[in-house]
Amino acid sequence: MKYRFGEPFPTQSTVKDLPLSEGAPAHFSLERKGDKIVLVYRMEEGDAIYGLGEQVRGINKRGWRYEGWNLDDPIHHEGRTSLYGAHNFFLVCGRECFGVFLDCAGRVEYDVGYTSPSLLTVEAQDFDLYLFEGESPTEIVKEFRALIGRSYIPPKWAFGYAQSRWGYKCEDDIRTVYENYMREGLPLDMLFLDIDYMERYKDFTVDPTRFPDLKAFAEEMKEKHIHLVPIIDAAVKVEAGYPVYEEGVEKGYFCKDDRGEPYIVGVWPGNSVLPDVLNPEARKWFGAQYKVLLDMGIEGFWNDMNEPALFYGEKQLKKALKIASETKEIGCLEDFERVSHTFFGLQNNPEDYRAFYHETENGRIVHEAVHNLYGYNMTRAAAEYFREYAPEKRFLLFSRSSCVGMHRYGGIWTGDNCSWWSHLLLNLQQLPGLNMCGFLYTGADLGGFGGNTTEELLLRWLALGVFVPLMRNHSNLGSRPQECYRFEKKEAFRNLLGVRYSLLPYLYSEYVRCAFENDMLFKPLSFAYPSDERAKTVEDQLLVGGSLMIAPVYTQNAKGRYVYLPERMKLIRMRAGDKYTEEVYEKGEYYISVPVEEIVFFLRFNRVLPLAKPAQNTASLDEKDLTWLKFLEKPAEFALLRDDGVTPIKKENFEIIRLGP
Ligand code: GLC
Repeated sequence: MKYRFGEPFPTQSTVKDLPLSEGAPAHFSLERKGDKIVLVYRMEEGDAIYGLGEQVRGINKRGWRYEGWNLDDPIHHEGRTSLYGAHNFFLVCGRECFGVFLDCAGRVEYDVGYTSPSLLTVEAQDFDLYLFEGESPTEIVKEFRALIGRSYIPPKWAFGYAQSRWGYKCEDDIRTVYENYMREGLPLDMLFLDIDYMERYKDFTVDPTRFPDLKAFAEEMKEKHIHLVPIIDAAVKVEAGYPVYEEGVEKGYFCKDDRGEPYIVGVWPGNSVLPDVLNPEARKWFGAQYKVLLDMGIEGFWNDMNEPALFYGEKQLKKALKIASETKEIGCLEDFERVSHTFFGLQNNPEDYRAFYHETENGRIVHEAVHNLYGYNMTRAAAEYFREYAPEKRFLLFSRSSCVGMHRYGGIWTGDNCSWWSHLLLNLQQLPGLNMCGFLYTGADLGGFGGNTTEELLLRWLALGVFVPLMRNHSNLGSRPQECYRFEKKEAFRNLLGVRYSLLPYLYSEYVRCAFENDMLFKPLSFAYPSDERAKTVEDQLLVGGSLMIAPVYTQNAKGRYVYLPERMKLIRMRAGDKYTEEVYEKGEYYISVPVEEIVFFLRFNRVLPLAKPAQNTASLDEKDLTWLKFLEKPAEFALLRDDGVTPIKKENFEIIRLGP
């Protein structure tokens, strides 16, 4: 059912057109608050609220307030109300079970039992509301996902292990990382290029002294089965003679102020302009800029700073400088606050978002009203061009900012987390919500981006990352280096990365099945065990695909943890794809020891798991020689994906494997 409130901007988040229903949507009462509509739902005591994608706090969202508003804020603490993505789908699961999608380009506010423990309110201005009723949470998610279209599928090598860091400056830095990984026998598929590869942070340029021949270098690395993945930032440097800037200005392809002048903001390159990716022509033009790097043999990209993140708006900055220069001395606290606030307030200032415009198919519109569509359309620009450039090829593409709809074009990473144990748990808790909203290709910066990691934190985080599609270790400039070879327990790192490769036939097959069937790769326990009251409260375990349950360790100095088994399961303790033990546990709660050099997980009853032998990279993975882990009382099937890893996947690429007890 679809309902319309106000005059929503067409987001193109959905792929189907549903007729509009009259009246008020079931379950909710409606209130008006100025220009806004407030939907009110009275929650039952036992209702759990799932979804909202990339957000703070637990799997069950009840007990806090949230915003659908793309925001670049690197400190993801619990007091936040939004992060980089606006994923406006949620599920109410209790006596009644239904799903709601707010298709809205602007801000959406949720109060999920914060003001009053039993009230759920949703507030927004112009939006379409879709209501989904179904038999089970999974069925409802599938209905929603059918509406928004199939999730992005990357090439197979994008499921390998990736090393990244802001601070690799030149070819030799990258080569050194590669050589150290090889010397230690650590598997690797991807190395990432952060902003330093560019010439003074100019998109689609390569610094000629740091990377004198990127094409030859990419080729050299590809021979070693390593893919280089450069970053692209949203903002384009203002610089005379820089073709991307000059051409964009000439064609009117940058966001403009109310007088029609390109709106100037500050990001990495200093004064910059924002490509108007909501203008179809400008979007096409921006996408075509990726050609420079594609022609050098690059097959993967990460799009960044596309909330869009603004360090300052030029006009606001000038105002702040004026205030500072007029303040001859700080005579009292008020003087100090006035000056400091004008500077602190520059970043991502709402006044900037209200001061520039997009030229869309539906006319001119102020950025604030369509803010959440920016990262989506930047990524769409790239993806649409890739399709033109090489229609038969899958490219790696993921973004920092997103909203529903972008999941068809690329994945996301969850931005600048910190080297904190709480962010390891947050990584796990975000996965089901992201999957609900179509984001299957996703991952957090393993080890943590900001701050200093420790060997133990990185090992524990990798032990979760082993199951997550984007398995990338990335860290901030100036933080403690965190490549796996920097630490003492080399064998533990070898084990963990090795197990990832052994699990790939399973993860890759299940990933693509989930994309084809609109299913979730990561589910809360309650989705599979709905009548189990205890399962509903589990916030630190997940089901991964159809066969596995994981229960990662996320606390310092732990030797293991308590795990809840909602049914009989087989515990697998693995040091390598050909080195593991199996032990059956009955339903119940157990303390399970988890040494840092092992991956511990659970095989569900009457399920199977294909395992490959250890491999150094996805290219050398032998998928003919599989071992099957089984926990069967009756025959079972598994849909194993066999494809070339690069061209579009067809249903026929799945081979149904039948196994007996
Ligand atoms: C942003 C990104 C981070 C990147 C940095 C420099 O903070 O989120 O991943 O390393 O910019 O490009």
